[in-house]
Amino acid sequence: MKSLGILLSGRGSNFVAIADSIDAGRIPGARIAVVISNKADAPGIATARQRGLTALVIPSKGKPHAEHDREVVAALKQHNVGLICLAGYMRLLSPWFVQQFPHRILNIHPSLLPAFPGLEAQEQAFAYGVKVSGCTVHFVDEELDHGAIIVQKPVPVLDSDDEHTLAARILEQEHIAYTEAINVVLGGNFAVAGRRLQKKK
Ligand code: GRF
Repeated sequence: MKSLGILLSGRGSNFVAIADSIDAGRIPGARIAVVISNKADAPGIATARQRGLTALVIPSKGKPHAEHDREVVAALKQHNVGLICLAGYMRLLSPWFVQQFPHRILNIHPSLLPAFPGLEAQEQAFAYGVKVSGCTVHFVDEELDHGAIIVQKPVPVLDSDDEHTLAARILEQEHIAYTEAINVVLGGNFAVAGRRLQKKK
């Protein structure tokens, strides 16, 4: 369970925040077993290699979705991954993929779900005119940005904000939220009833 698999497609700042937390002892006992990208040029993959982590590129382009999912699941199992963290992974996981790791896949989304699922959530929230947005770490289920919520962090929208400044402040909270959520899940002291994650007494 404490062997993490990170899936990413781009910049990888959430991956770096998780790796920094592990190195600083903020996620006791955890290690990153493998970092996987579907894109060869993802900066996050270069960073993973610089940090001496096992980093794999499993290209998705031009491949049937089911075949790519099978390859990624095989790599995760080969590395004995117990918890999967999606960190800017720009692929929908198939129901089959999700079923391979029940309550073992987390995602981070840059809005207070269920508001603004999907792409460019920060821009969506800004354009809508909300006064508070934020980020959500949730379990992944078969629907997009939908599973039970583990941690949320609110971020006020300031009059002086534009989409970029708002997104930057949300990102700071994402980096804090992901470590918190991983600790909740690895701690195991919770039950999921319907959509609600509740601490066990
Ligand atoms: C983050 O905003 C995350 O919430 C979303 O994709 C972005 C990834 O950023 N799912 P990074 O690659 O972790 O820097």
